[in-house]
Amino acid sequence: MLLSGSANPQLGAAIAREMALPVGRTILERFPDRELRVELLEEVRGRDVFVVQSLGPPAEHPLLELLLLGDAARRGGARRVTAVVPYLAYARQDRRATGREPLAGRLVADLLQCAGFQAIVALDVHSPAVEGFFGIPLEHLSAIPLLAEALRDGLAEPSVVVSPDLGGARRAEACAELLRLPVAVVHKSRVTGSDVAVRGVTGNVRGCAPIIVDDMISTGGTIEAAVGALVEAGCTAEVTVAATHALLVGDAVERLARLPIRRLVTTDSVQAAGDPPRGLLRVGVAPLIAAALRRLAHHG
Ligand code: R5P
Repeated sequence: MLLSGSANPQLGAAIAREMALPVGRTILERFPDRELRVELLEEVRGRDVFVVQSLGPPAEHPLLELLLLGDAARRGGARRVTAVVPYLAYARQDRRATGREPLAGRLVADLLQCAGFQAIVALDVHSPAVEGFFGIPLEHLSAIPLLAEALRDGLAEPSVVVSPDLGGARRAEACAELLRLPVAVVHKSRVTGSDVAVRGVTGNVRGCAPIIVDDMISTGGTIEAAVGALVEAGCTAEVTVAATHALLVGDAVERLARLPIRRLVTTDSVQAAGDPPRGLLRVGVAPLIAAALRRLAHHG
């Protein structure tokens, strides 16, 4: 059985269609005091239940709804309950930089386990280290092959795949391998939640059209800083951006519009809010996720 939270019902419905399953009926509402109220309107006893919920911004409401759906399914006697979380929020908070912060990524993992989920399926989680926070299996899918396929036609010559920070280098390498292109890395450090500073670029980028590959675009600050550094390092101003999760918070859309971006490719992991950036191509991830859920349903 597939259940969908309210954060991205279109994706939930698309995954259900791919699996030839109906979306299980639920009540997702609020009490007058704004507490969430969840009720399953279908029998889950003995069933293998997948709860689809992306933790797009603001993450707290979808997270709590996901926990409540998991708890309801577990207490309803489901044989196994799997959280399908295309965008796993809080994964960026995977270490305590100052020692005076929570380990939020770990706490979210604990909450999901506590709610009764026995497995997690997620897409391009910010840091692979987050898997270590879970004592249950984490099926880590990647949309990079889908993004690379979407980019393959119409690549400028010569092009270079660029990671906008050191942490994303492996992701960019995977994309570069698929496109048979060289890789470069921008050295970024975060100044505030929405501003970043760049210290330099490693790799040969002069005269190349950059393809910036990242896990997410939130405020657009990282992309803006990377584009500035790449153009300064001699890249052509014919920029492509590919990122799995389009959070696009604050003035991200306007920020991106000011940049010389020729192609912008993301996925539908997070439901779009507001007008999309100019020229955005959204690749559907439902077939990728449905294939993973079918594997889990058949092989445990
Ligand atoms: C950070 O390490 C991530 O991989 C992204 O680069 C970052 O979170 C994007 O956020 P923003 O668009 O706000 O710079």
